[in-house]
Amino acid sequence: MARVIIVGSGIAGLATALHATRQHGHEVTLVTKGELAESNTRYAQGGIAAATALDDSATLHAEDTIRAGAGLTDETAARVLADEGAAAIQSLIEWGVLFDHRPGSSEPDRALEAAHSRPRVLHAGGDATGAAIETALVTAVRASGVAIREHTMLTDLVLADARVVGIEVLRADGGREVLFADAVVLATGGAGQLYSHTTNPAIATGDGLAAALRAGVATADLEFYQFHPTTLAAPGNFLVSEAVRGEGAVLRNKRGERFMLGVHPDAELAPRDVVARAIAAEMAKQNGDPVTLDARGIGRDTLAARFPTIMAACAAAGFDLAGGLVPVVPAAHYYMGGIATDLDGRTSHAGLFAVGEAACTGVHGANRLASNSLLEGAVFARRVAAALGGLDTAAGGLLDQREVDSHLRRSSSRATKEPAYRDHPRVGLGTAAGGLLDQRSELQALMWSYAGLTRSGAGLAAAAARLRVWSEASTTPTDDRQQIETANLLVVARALIDAAQARRESRGAHARSDFAQTDASADREPSRRISRATDA
Ligand code: FAD
Ligand code: SIN
Repeated sequence: MARVIIVGSGIAGLATALHATRQHGHEVTLVTKGELAESNTRYAQGGIAAATALDDSATLHAEDTIRAGAGLTDETAARVLADEGAAAIQSLIEWGVLFDHRPGSSEPDRALEAAHSRPRVLHAGGDATGAAIETALVTAVRASGVAIREHTMLTDLVLADARVVGIEVLRADGGREVLFADAVVLATGGAGQLYSHTTNPAIATGDGLAAALRAGVATADLEFYQFHPTTLAAPGNFLVSEAVRGEGAVLRNKRGERFMLGVHPDAELAPRDVVARAIAAEMAKQNGDPVTLDARGIGRDTLAARFPTIMAACAAAGFDLAGGLVPVVPAAHYYMGGIATDLDGRTSHAGLFAVGEAACTGVHGANRLASNSLLEGAVFARRVAAALGGLDTAAGGLLDQREVDSHLRRSSSRATKEPAYRDHPRVGLGTAAGGLLDQRSELQALMWSYAGLTRSGAGLAAAAARLRVWSEASTTPTDDRQQIETANLLVVARALIDAAQARRESRGAHARSDFAQTDASADREPSRRISRATDA
Protein backbone atom coordinates (compact mmCIF):
# COMPACT_ATOMS: atom_id res chain seq x y z
CA MET A 1 0.00 0.00 0.00
CA ALA A 2 1.33 3.41 -0.95
CA ARG A 3 0.52 6.87 0.36
CA VAL A 4 -0.71 8.78 -2.65
CA ILE A 5 -1.63 12.43 -3.13
CA ILE A 6 -3.90 13.14 -6.08
CA VAL A 7 -4.21 16.79 -7.04
CA GLY A 8 -7.43 17.68 -8.85
CA SER A 9 -11.00 16.48 -8.71
CA GLY A 10 -12.19 16.29 -12.30
CA ILE A 11 -12.83 12.96 -13.98
CA ALA A 12 -9.10 12.11 -14.05
CA GLY A 13 -8.42 12.77 -10.38
CA LEU A 14 -11.66 11.28 -9.07
CA ALA A 15 -11.40 8.14 -11.19
CA THR A 16 -7.76 7.64 -10.22
CA ALA A 17 -8.73 8.01 -6.56
CA LEU A 18 -11.53 5.44 -6.89
CA HIS A 19 -9.40 2.87 -8.68
CA ALA A 20 -6.44 3.46 -6.36
CA THR A 21 -8.44 2.93 -3.18
CA ARG A 22 -10.92 0.30 -4.29
CA GLN A 23 -8.84 -1.90 -6.54
CA HIS A 24 -5.37 -1.32 -5.16
CA GLY A 25 -5.93 -0.41 -1.52
CA HIS A 26 -3.73 2.69 -1.52
CA GLU A 27 -4.06 5.41 1.10
CA VAL A 28 -5.25 8.34 -0.97
CA THR A 29 -5.48 12.04 -0.17
CA LEU A 30 -7.33 14.09 -2.78
CA VAL A 31 -6.35 17.75 -2.86
CA THR A 32 -8.39 20.25 -4.82
CA LYS A 33 -8.31 24.01 -4.95
CA GLY A 34 -12.04 24.72 -4.93
CA GLU A 35 -15.02 22.65 -3.97
CA LEU A 36 -14.75 18.99 -4.85
CA ALA A 37 -17.08 19.24 -7.85
CA GLU A 38 -15.40 22.25 -9.44
CA SER A 39 -13.53 21.26 -12.60
CA ASN A 40 -13.69 21.44 -16.38
CA THR A 41 -15.29 18.03 -16.23
CA ARG A 42 -18.39 19.43 -14.60
CA TYR A 43 -19.16 21.61 -17.65
CA ALA A 44 -18.61 18.98 -20.33
CA GLN A 45 -21.56 18.81 -22.66
CA GLY A 46 -21.48 16.62 -25.75
CA GLY A 47 -20.39 13.43 -24.07
CA ILE A 48 -17.84 10.69 -23.91
CA ALA A 49 -16.71 8.76 -26.96
CA ALA A 50 -16.30 4.98 -26.91
CA ALA A 51 -16.86 2.19 -29.40
CA THR A 52 -19.78 0.38 -27.79
CA ALA A 53 -22.12 -0.19 -30.76
CA LEU A 54 -22.26 -3.35 -32.88
CA ASP A 55 -21.42 -1.45 -36.08
CA ASP A 56 -18.45 0.24 -34.42
CA SER A 57 -15.05 -0.98 -33.26
CA ALA A 58 -12.09 0.16 -31.21
CA THR A 59 -10.06 0.00 -34.41
CA LEU A 60 -12.31 2.57 -36.10
CA HIS A 61 -12.25 4.79 -33.02
CA ALA A 62 -8.45 4.63 -32.88
CA GLU A 63 -8.21 5.42 -36.59
CA ASP A 64 -10.44 8.49 -36.19
CA THR A 65 -8.35 9.63 -33.21
CA ILE A 66 -5.13 9.22 -35.17
CA ARG A 67 -6.50 10.98 -38.25
CA ALA A 68 -7.71 14.01 -36.24
CA GLY A 69 -4.28 14.30 -34.57
CA ALA A 70 -2.69 15.46 -37.84
CA GLY A 71 0.35 13.18 -37.87
CA LEU A 72 1.34 13.68 -34.25
CA THR A 73 -0.89 11.21 -32.46
CA ASP A 74 0.90 8.54 -30.49
CA GLU A 75 -0.69 5.55 -32.16
CA THR A 76 -0.21 3.17 -29.26
CA ALA A 77 -1.87 5.68 -26.95
CA ALA A 78 -4.79 6.03 -29.38
CA ARG A 79 -5.22 2.26 -29.48
CA VAL A 80 -5.12 2.02 -25.70
CA LEU A 81 -7.74 4.78 -25.45
CA ALA A 82 -10.05 3.08 -27.91
CA ASP A 83 -9.44 -0.51 -26.73
CA GLU A 84 -10.00 0.29 -23.07
CA GLY A 85 -12.84 2.74 -23.68
CA ALA A 86 -15.71 0.32 -23.13
CA ALA A 87 -14.25 -0.91 -19.82
CA ALA A 88 -13.82 2.68 -18.65
CA ILE A 89 -17.46 3.40 -19.50
CA GLN A 90 -18.45 0.33 -17.50
CA SER A 91 -16.57 1.67 -14.47
CA LEU A 92 -18.39 4.99 -14.78
CA ILE A 93 -21.72 3.16 -14.89
CA GLU A 94 -20.76 1.14 -11.82
CA TRP A 95 -19.92 4.38 -10.01
CA GLY A 96 -23.42 5.63 -10.76
CA VAL A 97 -23.32 7.51 -14.07
CA LEU A 98 -26.62 7.13 -15.93
CA PHE A 99 -26.20 7.58 -19.67
CA ASP A 100 -29.19 8.60 -21.82
CA HIS A 101 -31.09 5.91 -23.70
CA ARG A 102 -33.30 6.29 -26.72
CA PRO A 103 -36.94 6.10 -25.59
CA GLY A 104 -38.00 2.46 -25.31
CA SER A 105 -34.52 1.10 -25.94
CA SER A 106 -32.14 -0.66 -23.57
CA GLU A 107 -29.21 0.63 -25.65
CA PRO A 108 -27.56 3.95 -24.80
CA ASP A 109 -28.10 6.72 -27.30
CA ARG A 110 -24.98 7.41 -29.35
CA ALA A 111 -24.40 10.80 -30.94
CA LEU A 112 -22.26 11.73 -33.92
CA GLU A 113 -19.62 14.42 -33.47
CA ALA A 114 -17.06 15.99 -35.76
CA ALA A 115 -14.46 13.70 -37.36
CA HIS A 116 -15.96 10.52 -35.87
CA SER A 117 -16.79 7.92 -38.51
CA ARG A 118 -19.58 6.46 -36.35
CA PRO A 119 -22.09 7.84 -33.86
CA ARG A 120 -20.33 6.77 -30.63
CA VAL A 121 -20.68 9.62 -28.17
CA LEU A 122 -22.55 8.60 -25.02
CA HIS A 123 -24.21 11.42 -23.16
CA ALA A 124 -26.18 12.10 -19.99
CA GLY A 125 -28.85 14.63 -19.10
CA GLY A 126 -29.01 15.48 -22.82
CA ASP A 127 -26.12 17.91 -22.91
CA ALA A 128 -25.02 17.75 -19.26
CA THR A 129 -22.70 14.76 -19.47
CA GLY A 130 -19.95 16.34 -17.40
CA ALA A 131 -22.27 17.28 -14.58
CA ALA A 132 -23.66 13.73 -14.48
CA ILE A 133 -20.16 12.22 -14.36
CA GLU A 134 -18.81 14.70 -11.83
CA THR A 135 -21.81 14.27 -9.51
CA ALA A 136 -21.63 10.48 -9.57
CA LEU A 137 -17.86 10.35 -9.05
CA VAL A 138 -17.92 12.93 -6.26
CA THR A 139 -20.56 10.86 -4.47
CA ALA A 140 -18.53 7.67 -4.97
CA VAL A 141 -15.33 9.31 -3.74
CA ARG A 142 -17.03 10.74 -0.66
CA ALA A 143 -18.13 7.19 0.21
CA SER A 144 -14.77 5.60 -0.54
CA GLY A 145 -12.56 6.49 2.39
CA VAL A 146 -10.41 8.87 0.36
CA ALA A 147 -9.20 11.77 2.52
CA ILE A 148 -10.50 14.94 0.87
CA ARG A 149 -8.82 18.35 1.14
CA GLU A 150 -10.99 20.98 -0.55
CA HIS A 151 -9.92 24.63 -0.96
CA THR A 152 -6.32 23.48 -0.82
CA MET A 153 -4.17 24.68 -3.69
CA LEU A 154 -1.01 23.00 -4.95
CA THR A 155 1.65 25.70 -5.23
CA ASP A 156 4.76 23.62 -5.94
CA LEU A 157 6.21 20.14 -6.02
CA VAL A 158 8.62 19.07 -3.30
CA LEU A 159 11.69 17.25 -4.57
CA ALA A 160 14.39 15.27 -2.83
CA ASP A 161 17.24 13.97 -4.98
CA ALA A 162 15.20 14.53 -8.16
CA ARG A 163 12.35 12.45 -6.76
CA VAL A 164 8.99 14.05 -6.06
CA VAL A 165 8.21 13.39 -2.40
CA GLY A 166 5.28 15.71 -1.83
CA ILE A 167 3.60 19.01 -2.55
CA GLU A 168 3.42 22.48 -1.09
CA VAL A 169 -0.11 23.76 -0.67
CA LEU A 170 -1.88 26.99 0.16
CA ARG A 171 -4.87 26.49 2.41
CA ALA A 172 -8.05 28.56 2.32
CA ASP A 173 -7.00 30.24 5.59
CA GLY A 174 -3.86 31.52 3.84
CA GLY A 175 -1.56 29.07 5.62
CA ARG A 176 1.03 27.06 3.75
CA GLU A 177 1.69 23.37 4.33
CA VAL A 178 3.84 20.59 2.92
CA LEU A 179 2.20 17.21 2.33
CA PHE A 180 4.47 14.19 1.82
CA ALA A 181 3.63 11.03 -0.11
CA ASP A 182 5.12 8.03 -1.88
CA ALA A 183 3.59 9.33 -5.10
CA VAL A 184 1.95 12.50 -6.36
CA VAL A 185 -0.56 12.37 -9.21
CA LEU A 186 -1.21 15.67 -11.01
CA ALA A 187 -4.75 15.75 -12.38
CA THR A 188 -4.99 19.52 -12.44
CA GLY A 189 -6.61 19.93 -15.87
CA GLY A 190 -5.96 22.55 -18.53
CA ALA A 191 -5.16 26.24 -18.80
CA GLY A 192 -7.97 27.88 -20.77
CA GLN A 193 -7.51 30.99 -18.65
CA LEU A 194 -4.41 31.71 -20.73
CA TYR A 195 -6.74 33.31 -23.25
CA SER A 196 -9.24 36.19 -23.23
CA HIS A 197 -11.93 33.93 -24.61
CA THR A 198 -12.32 30.42 -23.24
CA THR A 199 -14.93 27.81 -22.48
CA ASN A 200 -13.02 26.86 -19.32
CA PRO A 201 -14.01 27.83 -15.79
CA ALA A 202 -11.82 30.01 -13.57
CA ILE A 203 -9.94 27.05 -12.07
CA ALA A 204 -8.23 26.25 -15.39
CA THR A 205 -4.97 28.11 -14.79
CA GLY A 206 -2.37 25.45 -15.61
CA ASP A 207 -1.14 25.20 -12.00
CA GLY A 208 0.04 21.59 -12.19
CA LEU A 209 1.82 22.16 -15.49
CA ALA A 210 3.49 25.32 -14.14
CA ALA A 211 4.67 23.49 -11.02
CA ALA A 212 6.04 20.72 -13.23
CA LEU A 213 7.85 23.21 -15.48
CA ARG A 214 9.41 24.89 -12.44
CA ALA A 215 10.59 21.50 -11.22
CA GLY A 216 12.17 20.66 -14.59
CA VAL A 217 9.70 17.86 -15.36
CA ALA A 218 9.52 16.92 -19.06
CA THR A 219 6.57 18.32 -20.98
CA ALA A 220 5.33 17.81 -24.53
CA ASP A 221 3.33 19.35 -27.34
CA LEU A 222 2.87 22.63 -25.49
CA GLU A 223 2.24 24.57 -28.70
CA PHE A 224 -1.04 22.78 -29.29
CA TYR A 225 -4.02 24.53 -27.71
CA GLN A 226 -7.41 23.57 -29.12
CA PHE A 227 -9.98 26.24 -29.89
CA HIS A 228 -13.59 25.10 -29.91
CA PRO A 229 -15.33 26.45 -33.01
CA THR A 230 -18.72 27.24 -31.57
CA THR A 231 -19.15 29.21 -28.40
CA LEU A 232 -21.82 31.83 -27.84
CA ALA A 233 -20.70 35.25 -29.01
CA ALA A 234 -21.58 36.67 -25.62
CA PRO A 235 -19.61 37.22 -22.40
CA GLY A 236 -18.58 33.89 -20.88
CA ASN A 237 -18.30 32.11 -24.25
CA PHE A 238 -20.81 29.44 -23.28
CA LEU A 239 -20.10 26.31 -25.30
CA VAL A 240 -22.53 25.28 -28.02
CA SER A 241 -21.67 21.61 -28.27
CA GLU A 242 -20.36 20.02 -31.42
CA ALA A 243 -23.18 17.53 -30.92
CA VAL A 244 -25.58 20.25 -32.11
CA ARG A 245 -23.75 20.21 -35.43
CA GLY A 246 -23.76 16.41 -35.20
CA GLU A 247 -27.57 16.58 -35.10
CA GLY A 248 -27.58 18.69 -38.26
CA ALA A 249 -26.98 22.33 -37.35
CA VAL A 250 -25.01 24.27 -39.97
CA LEU A 251 -22.82 27.37 -39.96
CA ARG A 252 -23.68 30.46 -41.99
CA ASN A 253 -21.88 33.69 -42.73
CA LYS A 254 -23.52 37.11 -42.78
CA ARG A 255 -24.84 36.50 -46.27
CA GLY A 256 -26.51 33.30 -45.07
CA GLU A 257 -24.07 31.05 -46.97
CA ARG A 258 -22.89 27.67 -45.64
CA PHE A 259 -19.21 28.56 -45.96
CA MET A 260 -17.95 25.22 -44.57
CA LEU A 261 -19.13 23.45 -47.76
CA GLY A 262 -16.23 25.03 -49.61
CA VAL A 263 -13.68 24.32 -46.91
CA HIS A 264 -13.77 20.58 -46.14
CA PRO A 265 -15.63 17.51 -47.44
CA ASP A 266 -17.09 16.99 -43.97
CA ALA A 267 -18.26 20.63 -43.86
CA GLU A 268 -19.45 21.51 -40.33
CA LEU A 269 -18.21 18.13 -39.05
CA ALA A 270 -14.63 18.64 -40.19
CA PRO A 271 -11.96 18.40 -37.46
CA ARG A 272 -12.25 21.09 -34.84
CA ASP A 273 -9.14 23.04 -35.84
CA VAL A 274 -10.36 23.25 -39.44
CA VAL A 275 -13.81 24.53 -38.45
CA ALA A 276 -12.41 27.00 -35.90
CA ARG A 277 -9.98 28.54 -38.39
CA ALA A 278 -12.62 28.67 -41.12
CA ILE A 279 -14.91 30.57 -38.76
CA ALA A 280 -12.10 32.98 -37.89
CA ALA A 281 -11.39 33.52 -41.60
CA GLU A 282 -15.07 34.14 -42.30
CA MET A 283 -15.26 36.57 -39.37
CA ALA A 284 -12.28 38.46 -40.77
CA LYS A 285 -14.18 38.88 -44.06
CA GLN A 286 -17.17 40.35 -42.23
CA ASN A 287 -15.39 42.93 -40.05
CA GLY A 288 -15.00 40.56 -37.12
CA ASP A 289 -18.71 39.88 -36.76
CA PRO A 290 -19.54 36.37 -35.56
CA VAL A 291 -20.83 33.70 -37.89
CA THR A 292 -24.11 32.04 -36.98
CA LEU A 293 -25.21 28.54 -36.09
CA ASP A 294 -28.44 27.51 -37.76
CA ALA A 295 -30.12 24.68 -35.83
CA ARG A 296 -33.61 25.41 -37.09
CA GLY A 297 -33.75 22.22 -39.14
CA ILE A 298 -33.43 20.01 -36.06
CA GLY A 299 -36.79 20.88 -34.56
CA ARG A 300 -37.70 22.44 -31.25
CA ASP A 301 -38.73 19.20 -29.51
CA THR A 302 -35.53 17.38 -30.42
CA LEU A 303 -33.40 20.34 -29.40
CA ALA A 304 -35.23 20.69 -26.10
CA ALA A 305 -34.78 17.00 -25.32
CA ARG A 306 -31.14 16.73 -26.41
CA PHE A 307 -29.77 20.15 -25.53
CA PRO A 308 -31.74 21.62 -22.63
CA THR A 309 -28.72 23.34 -21.07
CA ILE A 310 -27.61 24.93 -24.33
CA MET A 311 -31.17 26.02 -25.20
CA ALA A 312 -31.40 27.71 -21.80
CA ALA A 313 -28.00 29.41 -22.14
CA CYS A 314 -28.92 30.70 -25.60
CA ALA A 315 -32.24 31.99 -24.28
CA ALA A 316 -30.49 33.72 -21.38
CA ALA A 317 -28.28 35.51 -23.90
CA GLY A 318 -31.33 36.47 -25.98
CA PHE A 319 -31.12 33.83 -28.72
CA ASP A 320 -33.59 31.13 -29.75
CA LEU A 321 -31.62 28.03 -30.80
CA ALA A 322 -34.70 26.37 -32.29
CA GLY A 323 -36.15 29.35 -34.10
CA GLY A 324 -33.32 31.69 -35.02
CA LEU A 325 -29.67 32.10 -35.89
CA VAL A 326 -27.25 32.01 -32.97
CA PRO A 327 -23.99 34.01 -33.22
CA VAL A 328 -20.93 31.87 -32.47
CA VAL A 329 -17.17 32.40 -32.21
CA PRO A 330 -14.20 30.14 -31.43
CA ALA A 331 -12.69 30.12 -27.92
CA ALA A 332 -9.80 28.36 -26.18
CA HIS A 333 -10.99 24.97 -25.02
CA TYR A 334 -8.50 22.17 -24.43
CA TYR A 335 -4.76 21.75 -23.95
CA MET A 336 -3.37 18.87 -26.02
CA GLY A 337 0.09 19.48 -24.58
CA GLY A 338 1.06 18.90 -21.01
CA ILE A 339 3.27 16.92 -18.67
CA ALA A 340 4.88 14.17 -20.72
CA THR A 341 3.84 10.72 -19.54
CA ASP A 342 4.01 7.15 -20.65
CA LEU A 343 0.81 5.14 -20.95
CA ASP A 344 0.66 4.61 -17.18
CA GLY A 345 1.05 8.26 -16.26
CA ARG A 346 4.73 8.07 -15.31
CA THR A 347 6.63 11.29 -15.81
CA SER A 348 10.31 12.15 -16.13
CA HIS A 349 10.51 12.32 -12.32
CA ALA A 350 10.27 9.40 -9.92
CA GLY A 351 7.27 9.70 -7.63
CA LEU A 352 5.34 11.93 -10.04
CA PHE A 353 2.45 10.86 -12.23
CA ALA A 354 0.10 12.92 -14.38
CA VAL A 355 -3.29 12.10 -15.85
CA GLY A 356 -6.12 13.73 -17.79
CA GLU A 357 -5.84 17.09 -19.47
CA ALA A 358 -2.76 18.01 -17.41
CA ALA A 359 -0.88 15.09 -18.96
CA CYS A 360 0.37 14.53 -22.48
CA THR A 361 0.42 10.89 -23.49
CA GLY A 362 0.41 11.98 -27.14
CA VAL A 363 -3.05 10.48 -27.60
CA HIS A 364 -4.52 13.66 -29.09
CA GLY A 365 -1.59 14.59 -31.30
CA ALA A 366 -2.01 18.08 -32.70
CA ASN A 367 -5.80 18.14 -32.48
CA ARG A 368 -8.11 16.27 -30.12
CA LEU A 369 -11.10 14.39 -31.45
CA ALA A 370 -14.39 15.50 -29.87
CA SER A 371 -15.40 13.73 -26.66
CA ASN A 372 -12.07 11.92 -26.31
CA SER A 373 -11.04 13.97 -23.31
CA LEU A 374 -13.49 12.61 -20.76
CA LEU A 375 -12.57 9.18 -22.05
CA GLU A 376 -8.87 9.91 -21.68
CA GLY A 377 -9.45 10.79 -18.02
CA ALA A 378 -11.38 7.59 -17.38
CA VAL A 379 -9.05 5.24 -19.30
CA PHE A 380 -5.71 6.55 -18.10
CA ALA A 381 -6.91 6.92 -14.50
CA ARG A 382 -7.25 3.17 -14.31
CA ARG A 383 -3.76 2.68 -15.71
CA VAL A 384 -2.21 5.22 -13.36
CA ALA A 385 -3.89 3.61 -10.37
CA ALA A 386 -2.51 0.24 -11.44
CA ALA A 387 0.98 1.68 -11.92
CA LEU A 388 0.90 3.11 -8.41
CA GLY A 389 1.01 -0.51 -7.30
CA GLY A 390 4.58 -0.68 -8.59
CA LEU A 391 5.77 2.05 -6.29
CA ASP A 392 7.66 -0.32 -4.08
CA THR A 393 9.94 -1.13 -7.01
CA ALA A 394 12.94 1.09 -7.60
CA ALA A 395 11.59 2.37 -10.92
CA GLY A 396 8.15 3.23 -9.55
CA GLY A 397 6.90 6.47 -11.01
CA LEU A 398 9.93 6.95 -13.20
CA LEU A 399 9.60 7.35 -16.93
CA ASP A 400 12.20 5.20 -18.62
CA GLN A 401 15.12 7.39 -19.73
CA ARG A 402 14.97 5.93 -23.24
CA GLU A 403 11.38 7.11 -23.46
CA VAL A 404 12.35 10.60 -22.30
CA ASP A 405 15.11 10.72 -24.91
CA SER A 406 12.87 9.42 -27.66
CA HIS A 407 10.20 11.87 -26.63
CA LEU A 408 12.63 14.78 -26.72
CA ARG A 409 13.71 13.83 -30.21
CA ARG A 410 10.15 13.73 -31.41
CA SER A 411 8.84 16.84 -29.74
CA SER A 412 9.65 20.28 -30.98
CA SER A 413 8.65 21.63 -27.59
CA ARG A 414 11.75 23.43 -26.41
CA ALA A 415 10.32 23.44 -22.93
CA THR A 416 11.20 19.77 -22.74
CA LYS A 417 14.74 20.40 -23.86
CA GLU A 418 15.56 23.52 -21.92
CA PRO A 419 14.09 23.55 -18.45
CA ALA A 420 14.42 27.32 -18.42
CA TYR A 421 11.48 27.58 -16.11
CA ARG A 422 13.31 25.91 -13.27
CA ASP A 423 14.62 29.32 -12.26
CA HIS A 424 11.35 31.09 -12.74
CA PRO A 425 10.15 32.82 -9.57
CA ARG A 426 8.07 30.31 -7.73
CA VAL A 427 5.10 32.53 -7.13
CA GLY A 428 4.30 36.16 -7.15
CA LEU A 429 3.79 39.06 -9.44
CA GLY A 430 5.04 42.54 -9.08
CA THR A 431 2.23 45.03 -9.35
CA ALA A 432 3.80 48.35 -8.65
CA ALA A 433 5.75 49.83 -11.50
CA GLY A 434 5.45 50.17 -15.26
CA GLY A 435 6.53 47.15 -17.32
CA LEU A 436 5.11 44.75 -14.77
CA LEU A 437 2.08 42.65 -15.37
CA ASP A 438 -0.77 44.46 -13.68
CA GLN A 439 -3.64 42.30 -14.69
CA ARG A 440 -4.22 38.76 -15.82
CA SER A 441 -6.35 40.19 -18.62
CA GLU A 442 -3.21 41.74 -20.19
CA LEU A 443 -1.61 38.33 -20.40
CA GLN A 444 -4.81 36.80 -21.78
CA ALA A 445 -5.12 39.49 -24.46
CA LEU A 446 -1.48 38.98 -25.47
CA MET A 447 -1.98 35.24 -25.81
CA TRP A 448 -5.22 35.68 -27.71
CA SER A 449 -3.57 38.04 -30.19
CA TYR A 450 -0.26 36.27 -30.72
CA ALA A 451 -0.63 32.64 -29.68
CA GLY A 452 -4.23 31.98 -30.70
CA LEU A 453 -5.81 30.38 -33.73
CA THR A 454 -3.19 31.70 -36.13
CA ARG A 455 0.37 32.61 -35.16
CA SER A 456 3.33 34.23 -36.89
CA GLY A 457 7.03 34.31 -36.16
CA ALA A 458 6.96 38.07 -35.62
CA GLY A 459 3.94 37.92 -33.31
CA LEU A 460 5.37 35.07 -31.27
CA ALA A 461 8.69 36.92 -30.90
CA ALA A 462 6.90 40.06 -29.71
CA ALA A 463 4.87 38.03 -27.25
CA ALA A 464 7.97 36.21 -25.99
CA ALA A 465 9.74 39.51 -25.36
CA ARG A 466 6.79 40.91 -23.44
CA LEU A 467 6.45 37.74 -21.36
CA ARG A 468 10.15 37.85 -20.55
CA VAL A 469 9.83 41.41 -19.25
CA TRP A 470 6.86 40.45 -17.13
CA SER A 471 8.64 37.34 -15.83
CA GLU A 472 11.80 39.19 -14.89
CA ALA A 473 9.75 41.73 -13.00
CA SER A 474 7.69 39.09 -11.21
CA THR A 475 9.60 38.50 -8.05
CA THR A 476 7.28 39.33 -5.22
CA PRO A 477 6.23 36.24 -3.27
CA THR A 478 2.56 36.18 -2.53
CA ASP A 479 -0.03 34.12 -0.73
CA ASP A 480 -2.82 35.46 -2.88
CA ARG A 481 -4.40 32.62 -4.83
CA GLN A 482 -5.24 34.68 -7.88
CA GLN A 483 -1.76 36.11 -8.10
CA ILE A 484 -0.28 32.64 -7.84
CA GLU A 485 -2.57 31.51 -10.63
CA THR A 486 -1.53 34.44 -12.80
CA ALA A 487 2.13 33.65 -12.13
CA ASN A 488 1.41 30.07 -13.20
CA LEU A 489 -0.27 31.28 -16.38
CA LEU A 490 2.82 33.34 -17.11
CA VAL A 491 5.06 30.27 -16.78
CA VAL A 492 2.79 28.22 -19.04
CA ALA A 493 2.46 31.07 -21.54
CA ARG A 494 6.24 31.30 -21.89
CA ALA A 495 6.53 27.56 -22.44
CA LEU A 496 3.69 27.57 -24.99
CA ILE A 497 5.23 30.43 -26.94
CA ASP A 498 8.67 28.83 -26.89
CA ALA A 499 7.17 25.64 -28.31
CA ALA A 500 5.16 27.57 -30.90
CA GLN A 501 8.27 29.44 -32.04
CA ALA A 502 10.16 26.19 -32.39
CA ARG A 503 7.48 24.54 -34.55
CA ARG A 504 8.09 26.14 -37.93
CA GLU A 505 5.16 24.53 -39.71
CA SER A 506 1.37 24.46 -39.51
CA ARG A 507 -0.20 21.35 -38.06
CA GLY A 508 -3.51 20.69 -36.33
CA ALA A 509 -4.23 23.39 -33.80
CA HIS A 510 -0.91 25.14 -34.46
CA ALA A 511 -1.26 27.35 -37.53
CA ARG A 512 1.51 29.72 -38.57
CA SER A 513 0.92 32.30 -41.27
CA ASP A 514 4.66 32.31 -42.04
CA PHE A 515 4.88 28.50 -42.30
CA ALA A 516 1.52 27.61 -43.76
CA GLN A 517 2.42 24.07 -44.81
CA THR A 518 2.75 20.92 -42.76
CA ASP A 519 6.27 19.56 -42.70
CA ALA A 520 5.83 15.82 -43.24
CA SER A 521 9.28 15.14 -41.83
CA ALA A 522 7.99 16.37 -38.46
CA ASP A 523 5.32 13.63 -38.26
CA ARG A 524 5.57 11.65 -35.07
CA GLU A 525 7.11 8.26 -35.58
CA PRO A 526 4.73 5.40 -34.97
CA SER A 527 4.63 5.11 -31.24
CA ARG A 528 7.70 4.33 -29.27
CA ARG A 529 6.12 4.94 -25.93
CA ILE A 530 6.01 1.54 -24.32
CA SER A 531 3.85 0.85 -21.35
CA ARG A 532 5.53 -1.43 -18.92
CA ALA A 533 3.53 -1.96 -15.77
CA THR A 534 0.11 -3.00 -17.01
CA ASP A 535 0.78 -4.58 -20.38
CA ALA A 536 1.46 -7.97 -18.92
P1 FAD B 1 -10.54 18.98 -14.79
O1 FAD B 1 -11.89 18.40 -14.93
O2 FAD B 1 -10.35 20.35 -15.30
O3 FAD B 1 -10.16 18.97 -13.25
C1 FAD B 1 -9.00 19.62 -12.79
C2 FAD B 1 -9.09 19.68 -11.28
O4 FAD B 1 -7.86 20.16 -10.74
C3 FAD B 1 -10.16 20.62 -10.76
O5 FAD B 1 -10.83 20.00 -9.70
C4 FAD B 1 -9.37 21.83 -10.26
O6 FAD B 1 -10.01 22.54 -9.24
C5 FAD B 1 -8.12 21.13 -9.75
N1 FAD B 1 -6.95 21.99 -9.65
C6 FAD B 1 -6.41 22.77 -10.61
N2 FAD B 1 -5.33 23.40 -10.13
C7 FAD B 1 -5.18 23.01 -8.84
C8 FAD B 1 -4.27 23.33 -7.81
N3 FAD B 1 -3.28 24.23 -7.98
N4 FAD B 1 -4.41 22.75 -6.60
C9 FAD B 1 -5.41 21.87 -6.39
N5 FAD B 1 -6.32 21.55 -7.32
C10 FAD B 1 -6.21 22.11 -8.53
N6 FAD B 1 -14.53 16.73 -23.17
C11 FAD B 1 -15.18 15.64 -23.63
O7 FAD B 1 -14.58 14.57 -23.77
N7 FAD B 1 -16.51 15.71 -23.91
C12 FAD B 1 -17.24 16.85 -23.77
O8 FAD B 1 -18.43 16.86 -24.02
C13 FAD B 1 -16.56 18.01 -23.32
N8 FAD B 1 -17.23 19.18 -23.19
C14 FAD B 1 -16.59 20.24 -22.62
C15 FAD B 1 -17.30 21.41 -22.37
C16 FAD B 1 -16.71 22.46 -21.73
C17 FAD B 1 -17.49 23.72 -21.46
C18 FAD B 1 -15.35 22.36 -21.32
C19 FAD B 1 -14.68 23.49 -20.61
C20 FAD B 1 -14.63 21.22 -21.59
C21 FAD B 1 -15.24 20.15 -22.24
N9 FAD B 1 -14.54 18.99 -22.51
C22 FAD B 1 -15.20 17.90 -23.00
C23 FAD B 1 -13.15 18.83 -22.08
C24 FAD B 1 -13.14 18.04 -20.77
O9 FAD B 1 -14.22 18.47 -19.97
C25 FAD B 1 -11.86 18.22 -19.99
O10 FAD B 1 -10.75 18.12 -20.82
C26 FAD B 1 -11.78 17.14 -18.92
O11 FAD B 1 -12.94 17.19 -18.13
C27 FAD B 1 -10.54 17.32 -18.09
O12 FAD B 1 -10.64 16.49 -16.97
P2 FAD B 1 -9.49 16.52 -15.89
O13 FAD B 1 -9.94 15.67 -14.76
O14 FAD B 1 -8.20 16.24 -16.51
O15 FAD B 1 -9.42 18.07 -15.43
C1 SIN C 1 -18.63 19.63 -27.21
O1 SIN C 1 -19.63 19.17 -26.65
O2 SIN C 1 -18.62 20.16 -28.32
C2 SIN C 1 -17.33 19.52 -26.49
C3 SIN C 1 -16.84 18.18 -26.69
C4 SIN C 1 -15.40 18.08 -26.43
O3 SIN C 1 -14.73 19.05 -26.07
O4 SIN C 1 -14.89 16.97 -26.60
